[in-house]
Amino acid sequence: MAHRWKNDLSPADATPPWAYLSRRALMLGAAGAGLAGLARPLAAATDDALKPNDWDEITSYNNYYEFGTNKGDPAKNAHMLTTSPWSVRIDGLVDRPGNYDFADIMSEMTIEERIYRLRCVEAWSMVVPWNGFELADLLAMAGVQDGARYVAFETVLRPQEMPGVRFPVLDWPYVEGLRLDEALHPLTIMATGLYGKPIPNQNGAPLRLVVPWKYGFKSIKSVVRITLTDTQPPTSWNKAGPREYGFYSNVNPNVDHPRWSQATERRIGGGLFAGREPTQMFNGYGDQVAALYDGMDLAENF
Ligand code: MTE
Repeated sequence: MAHRWKNDLSPADATPPWAYLSRRALMLGAAGAGLAGLARPLAAATDDALKPNDWDEITSYNNYYEFGTNKGDPAKNAHMLTTSPWSVRIDGLVDRPGNYDFADIMSEMTIEERIYRLRCVEAWSMVVPWNGFELADLLAMAGVQDGARYVAFETVLRPQEMPGVRFPVLDWPYVEGLRLDEALHPLTIMATGLYGKPIPNQNGAPLRLVVPWKYGFKSIKSVVRITLTDTQPPTSWNKAGPREYGFYSNVNPNVDHPRWSQATERRIGGGLFAGREPTQMFNGYGDQVAALYDGMDLAENF
C-alpha cells in the first residue's frame, strides 16, 4: 500500500533500536509528494516537549475499564485476555462481509510507525510511537458500499477474562463510532504495535483504533467488530453521559467538559514540577483535519 500521509512527529524522537521497520516506512513517506506540507509540523515536532513517552509510562498508566478503573489495573489484569486466535467481523454496508482473521489482515497491511499525541478527555496526555496501518486500507479490503456514512466499532466482551465488566460502569461491550470521512482519513489508524513490538494487552491488543485529533476514549481497544452503517452509531461514553461526552469528541481547548476545563493538560512523565501545557485545537492536527468540520458548530457538536 502506498503511504499517503505522514505523521507530524519525527522518528528521531523515538529511537529504540528495534524500530527499523517504521523508519523505512517514514522514509518512503518523506519521499512522497506530501513533503512540503510536512515542513512545519516536523519543525514543531522537534520541540523537546514532544518526546515520546517511554514504554513503562505508556504500558502502566492506562484506561481500559474492562480490566478495572484504576490507571494501574489494566497492566495488572489484562494478561488474562486471550488475543490469539483473533478475528474481526466486518459487516454492514460492505461488499465482502465476514470474519477477517487477524493474521490475514496483518499479511495484507503495510505497517508504519506513527508518533501521535494522545489526549485523554480527563486532561492528561502522552506521546505514543504506535505501529499500525491505516483504517482506510482495512475498510478497502471489505469494500465500503455507497450508502455507508458511519463506522461502528466494538470491543471484545469476555467476562471470564475481564474482571472489570462485572461492574456496570459502562454498558458493555465498549462501542465507538466515527463518521465515514473521519474513518477514511489517513491519520486514522489501527494500531498493532508500540515501539516496534506487538501492542500489549493493556493498550488494546491485538488491534485498537487510534484517532489522534479526538479525545482518547474514541480510540477503542481490542476491536472484534467493525460495522459500516448509514446511521450514527451509539457510543459507550455518550450513552453513559450524553451531556458530557459527544459523538465527535474532537480535542478542543475552547469547549470545556461540564466538570473541568479542557484548556490545558498534564503531560504524563513530565515530572513533579512540570507545569500544565496548553491543549491544542484538534490536538495539534488541525492542519490535516479541520476541513472535515467546515461550517460545523463545534460547541454544539462536541
Ligand atoms: N477501549 C476500551 N475497550 N475500553 C476502555 O476503557 N478507554 C479509552 C480508550 N479505549 C477504553 C478504550 C480511553 S478513556 C483512553 S484515554 C484510551 O483508550 C487510553 O489508551 P491507552 O491506555 O493505550 O493510553
